Amino acid sequence: MSTYQALEFTGESDQPWRWTARPRPNASELATDEVLVQVQYSRINHKDRLALTPASRVIAADRYPLVGGIDLAGVVAASNQPVWPVGTAVLATGFDLGVARPGGFAQYVRLPVRYLTQRPAELTAADAMALGTAGLTAAAALTEMFRVTALTDKNAPILITGGHSSVAQIAAASLARRHYTNVTVSVTHDWPAPAHALAHAKYAAVLDTVGGDALSVILPQVQPGGMVVAVGNLGQAALNTTVFPFILRGIRLQGVDSVHLAPADRGELWQLLATNLRPTPFPRYTTIPFDRLPAALTAPARGLTVVAIA
Ligand SMILES: NC(=O)c1ccc[n+]([C@@H]2O[C@H](COP(=O)([O-])OP(=O)(O)OC[C@H]3O[C@@H](n4cnc5c(N)ncnc54)[C@H](OP(=O)(O)O)[C@@H]3O)[C@@H](O)[C@H]2O)c1
Repeated sequence: MSTYQALEFTGESDQPWRWTARPRPNASELATDEVLVQVQYSRINHKDRLALTPASRVIAADRYPLVGGIDLAGVVAASNQPVWPVGTAVLATGFDLGVARPGGFAQYVRLPVRYLTQRPAELTAADAMALGTAGLTAAAALTEMFRVTALTDKNAPILITGGHSSVAQIAAASLARRHYTNVTVSVTHDWPAPAHALAHAKYAAVLDTVGGDALSVILPQVQPGGMVVAVGNLGQAALNTTVFPFILRGIRLQGVDSVHLAPADRGELWQLLATNLRPTPFPRYTTIPFDRLPAALTAPARGLTVVAIA
């Protein structure tokens, strides 16, 4: 029987990961709605680092040990599904991958077909993983922004927070691809409380990855009819605000959840990421071999890391 290599998160703080060899399933062992994917690339996300740390509770205590990795790109290696034939280039991100079912830090993974998105021809598997969940989230957030505010004025003032995060950097580069010229990317971690419930109305639209204090400061600065898309909590989760920006300026606060997006929406967003919202310039990333993944996961976050699994 052939085996494959996987990186398991153990749930133990002193030795949080270990390599395992698992038996490779064949087509007859797959459920009718399942395929086996040979993973080519994965990436390191903020959530993967959290998942390695039991105290974060990203992985429930009773789910350890678990193969990590919330994102993967690969090819269908075994399938009972005619619409997903062997050799199809696929992507899978989010759902419960790497948090409640084995994820992309493995040479093979069994997946329900609803997790699959066909990889757009315009993106290599490595480039797709440079975007990963962060890219899908940025595309979902920008699509919401355009749906509500149109932003026909390419000089409309737009704010993006948590500027060093992948979501923020991809969103900024996607806006550059659409020729927006007035985008402020904030990298501050420090958001002193606002003195008043309403402040100078600076921004037509905001993509916020920081949450908490940042959102409290930003909401009073949104222009009448403008919107904030909340995607993250790099800062805090608790939000302190008043209703005045909503009832006196008619602003909107919209959340984005890229983890549970429907398959059809994923397909559309990935196609946008490959074309009209393709980040320009494309994010620079480092590719590391699979055996260097544990060291990269436990080192301080530096830049964007794609993992060559195959
Ligand atoms: N809604 C969804 O579906 C969804 C999907 C994906 C991610 N997210 C969320 O989006 C956020 C970004 O995720 P990501 O994967 O893009 O992160 P990432 O690439 O891992 O970025 C992390 C970086 O953010 C910066 N940062 C940390 N704390 C910060 C703070 N308090 N204020 C401003 N910047 C801070 C740090 O850089 P510096 O120290 O250099 O500033 C850190 O290196 C996270 O909160 C994540 O949970 C949400």
